[in-house]
Amino acid sequence: MHCVRNVTEDLYWVGANDHRLALFENIHPIPRGVSYNAYLLLDEQTVLFDTIDWSECRQLLENVQFLLNGRDLDVLVINHMEPDHGASIEEILLRWPKVKIISTPKSFMLMRQFGFHVDGHELLEVQEGDQVTFGKHTVTFINAPMVHWPEAMVTFDLTNGALFSADAFGSFIALDGKLFNDEVQFDRDWIDEARRYYTNIVGKYGPHVQKLLGKAAGILDQIKYICPLHGPVWRSDFGYLIDKYQHWSSYEPEDKAVMIAYASMYGNTEAAAQALAAKLAERGVTNTVLYDVSNTHVSYLISETFRVSHVVLASVTYNLGIYPVMKNYLEDMKALNLHNRTFALVENGSWACRSGDLMQKFLDEELKCMTVLNERLSLSSALREDQDDELNALADAITDDLKNN
Ligand SMILES: Cc1cc2nc3c(=O)[nH]c(=O)nc-3n(C[C@H](O)[C@H](O)[C@H](O)COP(=O)(O)O)c2cc1C
Ligand SMILES: [Fe+2]
Ligand SMILES: [Fe+2]
Repeated sequence: MHCVRNVTEDLYWVGANDHRLALFENIHPIPRGVSYNAYLLLDEQTVLFDTIDWSECRQLLENVQFLLNGRDLDVLVINHMEPDHGASIEEILLRWPKVKIISTPKSFMLMRQFGFHVDGHELLEVQEGDQVTFGKHTVTFINAPMVHWPEAMVTFDLTNGALFSADAFGSFIALDGKLFNDEVQFDRDWIDEARRYYTNIVGKYGPHVQKLLGKAAGILDQIKYICPLHGPVWRSDFGYLIDKYQHWSSYEPEDKAVMIAYASMYGNTEAAAQALAAKLAERGVTNTVLYDVSNTHVSYLISETFRVSHVVLASVTYNLGIYPVMKNYLEDMKALNLHNRTFALVENGSWACRSGDLMQKFLDEELKCMTVLNERLSLSSALREDQDDELNALADAITDDLKNN
């Protein structure tokens, strides 16, 4: 059975929702699922924009077949050939062998690497600024390298104002019937998962996203729809979405807020984290979140770290090192190029406390533009009552920095 939605006039969503996949890229939990979006244009020529993951290929075929209603598929535009979008290309070619594929030279190269048998079919390599007409609709292509792979491009339909934005402006969470941003409460129900998607999937490539945003700014008044490869289609409130992307891609915090991330085995570092959170609240700092790094998937930690301005890292010493899960979180910050945050450190150890110095060293030497407040709190196994002044000093330092910067 088909399951399609009309985007506008002769353009349709023909994607699918996936609630079975536990881990996106086999690494990021997606408890609320994900959608793979593809779009079909029924012009004088019929044009499919991208395909979807192999696991949902059957749904794509039923959707396309239903809308074609006996017509042939003339054109397949591949904006992003990563297998969560490109895996069904070959099946499309088998069903509609006369289809012409339009994509970037690098994308065709990668398709061959992956063993998609595109040769023997009509292929059109396009460059930035090229235009193709399908009848009523003329589209132009804009390179979007490293958003999220090097071969990526976005396609802009000059006739109806639809921007096929590939992975840009996408989100985790299955659509489940809804399609448009105004059919969901994005700022309540989706923003955290959109941020987690962006920061973990594309977060490293902020400068490339900035370039794409710059290009999009030039045509912003012409854009009527933003059609990403995951998550809702945007037809209003572009300013909201672009503002989020501006923050994320320039590594600017969204909120003046404090995230306390602690690593604790027996609960003493955890108790100190709680005591600090209470001290902050007493000082009026209530925009705080507290995470146990051991039972929070690092993709959530990364997402929150992109959101907040201030991060408290509280870690035990473990075999003369940083607690492994905390170390992994720090390594992920490095891998995703996260910078421009203010940190405070809490360390704990029972015989040779090292975690504070090691976290400081990592922040100073491995990451860029990170500020570490001087007021480090050092625990010998547990926070003692006579350390109340130290805890107050740390809370004061964070509060002052939050207010003044
Ligand atoms: C496997 C293991 C290795 C540890 N290595 C160190 C160490 O190298 N240096 C140290 O001072 N404490 C070490 N500790 C002790 C803890 O860091 C210390 O007891 C800490 O106070 C625990 O805090 P918590 O109650 O928040 O878990 C180690 C503990 C474990 C279980
Ligand atoms: Fe991708
Ligand atoms: Fe994707």
